[in-house]
Amino acid sequence: MTVDGIRLGRKLFYDPILSVDSTVSCATCHQQALSFTDGLDRSQGVAGMTRRGSLSLINVGFHYDGLFWDGRSPNLEHLSLIPPEDPIEMAETWDNVELKLRNHPVYPTDFRQAFGIDNVSGIDRHLAAKAISQFLRTIVSGHNSRYDRFVRGEIFLEENEFNGYLMFFNIDPSLPDAQCGHCHNAPLMATNDYFNNGLQESPDLYSFPDPGLGAITGIASDNGRFKPPTLRNLVFTAPYMHDGRFKTLPEVVDHYASGGKESPNKSSFMFNLVLTESQKADILAFLLTLTDSTTLTNPAFKNPF
Ligand code: HEC
Ligand code: HEC
Repeated sequence: MTVDGIRLGRKLFYDPILSVDSTVSCATCHQQALSFTDGLDRSQGVAGMTRRGSLSLINVGFHYDGLFWDGRSPNLEHLSLIPPEDPIEMAETWDNVELKLRNHPVYPTDFRQAFGIDNVSGIDRHLAAKAISQFLRTIVSGHNSRYDRFVRGEIFLEENEFNGYLMFFNIDPSLPDAQCGHCHNAPLMATNDYFNNGLQESPDLYSFPDPGLGAITGIASDNGRFKPPTLRNLVFTAPYMHDGRFKTLPEVVDHYASGGKESPNKSSFMFNLVLTESQKADILAFLLTLTDSTTLTNPAFKNPF
């Protein structure tokens, strides 16, 4: 990563030049003020709604075993090539984007500074994707939330938050294990693994409305499994889950407390947790300690135009 590469990537991320009619940029569906989500169940592209909801880009550079809800992209350089040519999201072609960038008054200089090309014909999709990926890797949150300050020993959590923390990570055997930490580990509050967390009811492995990982691997037992997203900045990323089915965090906690819907490969971490209302409220209080508002105002992530 270089300063010039990141600067170019940030411009491309915010520039609707990547879309067919110059109306949609990456930031349309990944807005800084919403922790790089868009507040919708499904996202609005140039040609309609996407199949699933947008994902937060916080700490996305640390995902090493698949990107997207179903893990279908191996890394950021690969992923960044997809939205411009997605017929719903940006509906453009890279051939066209390359022409637009080569003929642009400013981008040729930006590409030269970032990658040392000596001719505009050196501008191509792969360098664009590399620059965007460099920018995405700067979107980090891991220092400023109350949880992070607590882990560093700088502050103590309120009693309800602390109880939630103990249940989330199953630290105190006298409290119920809320199971969350198995699938949302510290420090990312995500995992590089895929689970069926009981969202979809299915009598067999073949009837999930959205098969998730299974459609990518072709393995039946992967059907209905999805990537757990980060829980950092959760308060800004509603609605929740790949289809935005839960509008509020109390609904999410109720889902987990109940153990979710039945299917043959539902995770063994998913069962009726037998939590009291005040224990559920404690877990909710802990989730809010993962809030880092500095990522929403950090000038380095803002629209540069
Ligand atoms: C029309 C809305 C839309 C646009 C435009 C868009 N995205 Fe997304 N993005 C989404 C949706 C929806 C998902 C989740 C899709 C899925 O997993 O099936 C997603 C997922 C991602 C992810 C995966 C995150 C993770 O944790 O796995 C990354 C990274 C990403 N987008 C980056 C970009 C970049 C870079 C651009 C611009 C080149 C872009 N997006 C343009 C809607 C959009
Ligand atoms: C078996 C693994 C597993 C366990 C246990 C688990 N989760 Fe999840 N979590 C997931 C998966 C997988 C998703 C994404 C599911 C989807 O949308 O298809 C998810 C999604 C979420 C989301 C939605 C995030 C977003 O941005 O949409 C929240 C919030 C959440 N989990 C909180 C919790 C809490 C709180 C607990 C403990 C009470 C918990 N999870 C326990 C696997 C798990």
